[in-house]
Amino acid sequence: MADASTGRWQPRPHPPLGAHDVHVWRVPLDDASRAESYWTLLDDDERKRAVRFVRDVHRRRFIAAHGALRSILAGYVDAEPTALAFVSGEHGKPALRDATGHPPVEFNLSHSDDLALVAVARARPVGVDLERWSEVEHLELAERFFSPGERRALRALAHAPDLVEAGFFAAWTRKEAYLKATGHGITRGLHHFDVALAPGEPARLIADRFDAQAAVRWAMFALDPAPGYSAALVVASPVTEVLQLSV
Ligand SMILES: CC(C)(COP(=O)(O)OP(=O)(O)OC[C@H]1O[C@@H](n2cnc3c(N)ncnc32)[C@H](O)[C@@H]1OP(=O)(O)O)[C@@H](O)C(=O)NCCC(=O)NCCS
Repeated sequence: MADASTGRWQPRPHPPLGAHDVHVWRVPLDDASRAESYWTLLDDDERKRAVRFVRDVHRRRFIAAHGALRSILAGYVDAEPTALAFVSGEHGKPALRDATGHPPVEFNLSHSDDLALVAVARARPVGVDLERWSEVEHLELAERFFSPGERRALRALAHAPDLVEAGFFAAWTRKEAYLKATGHGITRGLHHFDVALAPGEPARLIADRFDAQAAVRWAMFALDPAPGYSAALVVASPVTEVLQLSV
């Protein structure tokens, strides 16, 4: 499915979002020129969350991520960014509040270090995950978080540490994006489903032992937002186009 992805983070205003399209916006979080305007977009809850950060850099990045999220979503629903209201799903997945009970667009946000991604789709659940590569014990962490099949696939790369690192972050972001798309988070654990992680193999949900139809129900894409980051997108099938945009 990875070949449905088009465009390379184009800086352009909101293009039309078709019923089977997904738009993914890349948001730099250390852009000082926008910091003040983003603060004015936030509601009381977001401001309360922002001021709880101990470190300035984390507060600024939170404000940038949530200010940009509001600006992006406003462009799809023909409203002012400050007029948007959010609700939380059963496991905390945020959604736009809509009087009809059918939000006009669904979205998901991910942030890591100085970058965020916002995925937007029309009337279909979407999940996105972004991770900046960091020095961790890949094989050890995989033993804790990955399924037996994923661990085998990662161990098969052990002859080349750089492939282990790439495979680890590919799998991590794909797993997270799937958990975020379904909205379950880690409530059902992490071992009941398998994602492809081998270099050169397209991103794909191989199987979910809780949902026999999952592999056809969900489309998975690898994204390449910047050097040193891995990212993945999961959205309910079918998908015609994944458009990558830049604020
Ligand atoms: C939110 C969660 C689903 C992902 O968190 P994360 O990867 O640390 O952070 P991300 O930046 O990708 O995503 C955070 C955003 O997701 C959204 N979010 C929160 N709960 C969510 C949920 N249940 N489903 C989807 N999105 C959610 C929010 O917009 C949140 O942003 P905010 O905190 O600024 O409001 C987290 O609760 C979680 O389950 N983490 C799993 C950690 C783990 O063990 N992963 C192992 C992977 S192999």
